[in-house]
Amino acid sequence: MFVETISIIDSKNYVDQKVKIGVWLTNKRSSGKIAFLQLRDGSAYFQGVVVKSNVSPEIFELAKEVKQETSMYVVGTIHEDSRSHFGYEIEVEDITIVGESEDYPITPKEHGTDFLMDHRHLWLRSKKQFANMQVRNEITRATFEFFNKEGFIKFDAPILTGSAPEGTTELFHTEYFDKDAYLSQSGQLYAEAGAMAYGKVFTFGPTFRAEKSKTRRHLIEFWMIEPEMAFMHQEESLEIQEHYIAFLVQNVLDHCDYALTLLGRDKELLKNYTKLPYPRISYDEAIKLLQESGEFDGLEWGADFGSPEETYLANHFNQPVFVVNYPKAIKPFYMKPHPTRKDLVICADLLAPEGYGEIIGGSERATDSDYLEVQIKKAGLNEKDYQWYLDLRRYGSVPHSGFGLGLERMVTWITGEEHIREAIPFPRMLNRIYP
Ligand code: 4AD
Ligand code: MG
Repeated sequence: MFVETISIIDSKNYVDQKVKIGVWLTNKRSSGKIAFLQLRDGSAYFQGVVVKSNVSPEIFELAKEVKQETSMYVVGTIHEDSRSHFGYEIEVEDITIVGESEDYPITPKEHGTDFLMDHRHLWLRSKKQFANMQVRNEITRATFEFFNKEGFIKFDAPILTGSAPEGTTELFHTEYFDKDAYLSQSGQLYAEAGAMAYGKVFTFGPTFRAEKSKTRRHLIEFWMIEPEMAFMHQEESLEIQEHYIAFLVQNVLDHCDYALTLLGRDKELLKNYTKLPYPRISYDEAIKLLQESGEFDGLEWGADFGSPEETYLANHFNQPVFVVNYPKAIKPFYMKPHPTRKDLVICADLLAPEGYGEIIGGSERATDSDYLEVQIKKAGLNEKDYQWYLDLRRYGSVPHSGFGLGLERMVTWITGEEHIREAIPFPRMLNRIYP
């Protein structure tokens, strides 16, 4: 008799039908008469039930002996199972071992983070990591959908570059034949060239920061989405940003219900984040709020915000909040100066609530080549390397704006994870490059 091979996730379409599934064993328990096999196939997790009286003695013996992470084919009948998250189980009739597994290092007991990070290649198989990657995948998919529907084109910025948009202290240096090169910190400057060529573009690629900081929100290698729009001022860019974030949250709610359930994430809370507009406050107002709270001794106008300040501000609103127009002295060279307040630039950071802090940084861009030339020098950058960038202002300069969303910051917030390392398969962190 022909038995269809399916994925666990499709169980709902095969209730009371006999199917074959390629699976790994994650855990098991058994008594004299019945064995419960916890199974996964990469699409979902569910239970296989092996009843002694329904299978051959060899198969029952196999079910009792099979070791964690053994791969196998199981054949059996799908049933509803209202007690599990997933809602279905398989009553197993036959098992064929595919690959043996001995002494799998990650057992159901507790392990320390370092041990788990050393076994990241295996740890990825666990439920939480599975759920995080589902959310990451959905955010990636929905990003393409959003920008395509808004008329942007995907624009690939180079990874090997000669420029340092976000400052020179965090650069990864490498040799480029007889020249110096750096791993990209941001695709923005190239995206600006893209916007002048094609109107609305977005980059989506890996970026690198040699940050010596060991925090739960910093990675050395992270992925960034950087839209850049010609003929656009800051206010309109903020509208795109909030619609983009609300769209991502809504799509995760619509398409990742199982993952959010596995994570125990509060879906009502996430629904709040689809309500627009997000509040906007100025840097000046933010400083005042922080000072009035009495929790930030010695905080003065001009200071950059760290995690505690950002946490306070976003929790104050219980919503993502835009902080706009920071002091020029703490922001990069390319931002547009404020028309009346010479000490400010036209920019915004979007701060996520629940302690997650900055997820987006963006600005309107300076359009004047003379102004930019001075800023480039002041930033200690080599003018020669930026002539191409100044050309964008010499030949038909227009008001333009853009922003960067850190993919892993977004995933960490939406999944409710403690640490950004859980938002990327193989995190690159201070002192860790294995595996
Ligand atoms: O604020 P940043 O440095 O801004 C830029 O790179 C601009 N060029 C973006 C633009 O306007 N096109 O970084 C943008 C975002 C941050 O808000 C954060 O989400 C993320 O990138 N990010 C990091 N994520 C993980 N680890 C790090 N070390 C990060 N640094 C920045
Ligand atoms: Mg920033």
